[in-house]
Amino acid sequence: MTKSNQVLIFDTTLRDGEQSPGATMTHDEKLEIAEMLDDMGVDIIEAGFPIASEGDFNAVSEIAKLSKSATICGLARANYKDIDRCWEAVKHAKSPRIHTFIGTSPLHRAIPNLNMDEMAERIHDTVTHARNLCDNVQWSPMDATRTEWDYLCRVVEIAIKAGATTINIPDTVGYTAPVESADLIRNLIATVPGADNVIFATHCHNDLGMATANSLAAVEGGARQIECTINGLGERAGNTALEEVVMALKVRSDIMPYTTKIDTRKIMNISRRVATVSGFAVQFNKAIVGKNAFAHESGIHQDGMLKNRETFEVMKPEDVGLSGTSLPLGKHSGRAALRAKLAELGFDMADNQLNDVFVRFKDLADRKKEVFDDDLMALVSQNDTDEDRLKLKSLRVVCGTDGPQQADMVMEVDGADVETSATGDGPVDATFNAVKAIFAHGARLQLYQVSAVTEGTDAQATVSVRMEEDGRIATGQSADTDTVVASAKAYINALNRLLVRREQSEPGYDTKGVSYKDT
Ligand code: KIV
Ligand code: ZN
Repeated sequence: MTKSNQVLIFDTTLRDGEQSPGATMTHDEKLEIAEMLDDMGVDIIEAGFPIASEGDFNAVSEIAKLSKSATICGLARANYKDIDRCWEAVKHAKSPRIHTFIGTSPLHRAIPNLNMDEMAERIHDTVTHARNLCDNVQWSPMDATRTEWDYLCRVVEIAIKAGATTINIPDTVGYTAPVESADLIRNLIATVPGADNVIFATHCHNDLGMATANSLAAVEGGARQIECTINGLGERAGNTALEEVVMALKVRSDIMPYTTKIDTRKIMNISRRVATVSGFAVQFNKAIVGKNAFAHESGIHQDGMLKNRETFEVMKPEDVGLSGTSLPLGKHSGRAALRAKLAELGFDMADNQLNDVFVRFKDLADRKKEVFDDDLMALVSQNDTDEDRLKLKSLRVVCGTDGPQQADMVMEVDGADVETSATGDGPVDATFNAVKAIFAHGARLQLYQVSAVTEGTDAQATVSVRMEEDGRIATGQSADTDTVVASAKAYINALNRLLVRREQSEPGYDTKGVSYKDT
């Protein structure tokens, strides 16, 4: 069979990405990201791991119901219960897929304590079961790149005979190198009977920084599906970054003659949104989506750029959705200008949402001369809601060189204002202590991150706070021209989200009026 030169893009931001510690997203955020992935032309969206929790199940089935063109896939281990649950969630999609996997390398075979024959039988039975439920079945031998080649060929053949339509070859621990990655797929296609009738996929992790190179090499070897995540989000060093493989295939089509269906102009918006909802900021020098990816600071570079952009740029910023000359808004800008700018940035707002953002925009414009695109993105990305139990009402911090610093705070707790003063080692510590004094809790601060949204001393600071309690993790975000206020709001936002998580995992439990550490 002649292979098409189209490479399918399988996005697993909502499964492998979200699995990364601290990257948990809310139900609504998952729906929003899935819609953006569908709109940008992703072929297959791996929406979650339905057996993992009620929340995962609900997100996958809702995403399946709302899907437009993308195939919606759920993950299942190699047992009937997982597979049935997965099918229950994905079956609502126009195009559903079950993805089932088992670890086939010696180290992974030891975990369920199966010998080679027992594992082969398990693969046959579970893939057959999945195929009886769904016409579209993907099978993965986890840790394939550390599995004996002859055993890998044997189990891939079994999975194909049992009805798998896609065979995914994961480099689970980011161990392989490009030459090997290409050879492995080429060898499987050449030797396994029936290989011509299925799609081979590549799924790489970035532990040695080779995920993008390995994925592209696998395509050279015959793979026609790349598994990836936005911003390379994922466990440890992450997964292959969608934006990197897609742009590499686009820019270097002269030597890699493959196409994808991705609308690359949608890359920047989804990258920013994933960074915000996951709390994993994109490093400044990250390829394609980093803040500096298209910045040219040095004199020689700027001179070259002014004469001819191609001197130092291999692609245009517009190709990834960065609008080159964007005029900032100011305090005289009206609702229509704001709506138009937000639409340009990928936000189609309902009237009530727009009204809310407009109020916050006016407040910001009063404090800041020019409101740039990044300021607006930060504004729109704030995820506090009317239903929040905790709200910051006022904050005054006294600082000095001979500390301790003191924070005087009023916070609304379940509708009632509570006031306190607390000291700490620095203004942020004093502020967080004030929150704790008003609302006692045992959540542990895992991450506190501040970045400036734009340049200048009046720039907004975006603050991300990640907190953990009893295995539940929540990320809070906020932006403000005052870093300490942004910190307080982000901290309170994370606490509110932890409270929601507790309600969700212990349904019916009334935490109203009770400090949740006391429960
Ligand atoms: O990395 C991996 O092996 C996986 C599998 C579940 C496909 O994510
Ligand atoms: Zn993975």
